[in-house]
Amino acid sequence: DSVFQGRSLLSTRDYTKDELMWLIGFAEHLKDLKRQNIAHHYLEGKNIALLFEKTSTRTRAAFTTACIDLGAHPEYLGKGDIQLGKKETVRDTALVLGSMFDGIEFRGFKQSNVEELAEYSGVPVWNGLTDKEHPTQMLADFMTIKENLGTLEGVTLAYIGQGRNNVQNSLMITSAILGVNYVNATPAELEPDPEILAVAKALAEQSGATITVTNDPVEAVADADVVYTNVWAAMGEEGQFAERVRLMSPYQVNAELVSHIKNPDWIFLHCLPAFHNAETDYAADIEAKHGISAMEVTDDVFYSDHGRQFQQAENRMHTIKAIMAATLGNLYVPSV
Ligand code: CP
Repeated sequence: DSVFQGRSLLSTRDYTKDELMWLIGFAEHLKDLKRQNIAHHYLEGKNIALLFEKTSTRTRAAFTTACIDLGAHPEYLGKGDIQLGKKETVRDTALVLGSMFDGIEFRGFKQSNVEELAEYSGVPVWNGLTDKEHPTQMLADFMTIKENLGTLEGVTLAYIGQGRNNVQNSLMITSAILGVNYVNATPAELEPDPEILAVAKALAEQSGATITVTNDPVEAVADADVVYTNVWAAMGEEGQFAERVRLMSPYQVNAELVSHIKNPDWIFLHCLPAFHNAETDYAADIEAKHGISAMEVTDDVFYSDHGRQFQQAENRMHTIKAIMAATLGNLYVPSV
């Protein structure tokens, strides 16, 4: 039997430290196989539904290529393609898809929807991002940290960004599980949800990690080994952009801020997409609407020798393979 078979990944809270570390190790193995062009068809003959209520580059591409490399068939079901949320409930959609597909990826607005899919579909469901969590991103992020720093033990991760978004929630919780010291530098108005902070602090007591929230980005980066940031307004929050920029401007990750980092071997991470130059249509649109060109990270940091965000993006595929194969591939993993 496998300790993973049949399980969903709705939050990293569903997994222990040892289980998450096993998945990261398995993803490293799958990355080696991919590099050597060695087949790894753990999911031969399986059908995987990819439900996307929101746009995606990395998550969609990672799930699609991961399915194909594992021998499975991916079926993309976009917001405009299926009845979900219009003519049909989440429960009924789960019952139908679960009768035809062996596993379901879901990216959408509500965490409660991914939970309902898992409850009623009868197959593993993998959370590809909701309002509350981004757990598949976490596997890639901590794999990238381990690849670059050699360990997660004693590592300090500083997240310079608002405390109330899905990536922050998941980073804080996953750091707490894995024993990674975590600092969130955020404006006072956007500090983490107290309930999620309490969960992280309780998990950190078991792992020995420290969880810190500060309004001072310089204090946050000083002892960091990893500096992580994210867009200031998430999908669907563009209407709040001007106010966000006002609050977030002191938290831009730029040359001046990173000059305070003591560890010369620090790395920069970003889940992407990043708002770091004015070349994109999105940047031009924001500038036209708000007369503001502020970005969460500047090019001199983004394209510096410290940047590992594209390695992190590639690792989405290897880690998504790991979670799909582990939960659906009848792997022999008796205990970890
Ligand atoms: N990091 C991430 O989830 O990227 P996408 O939104 O492009 O999937």
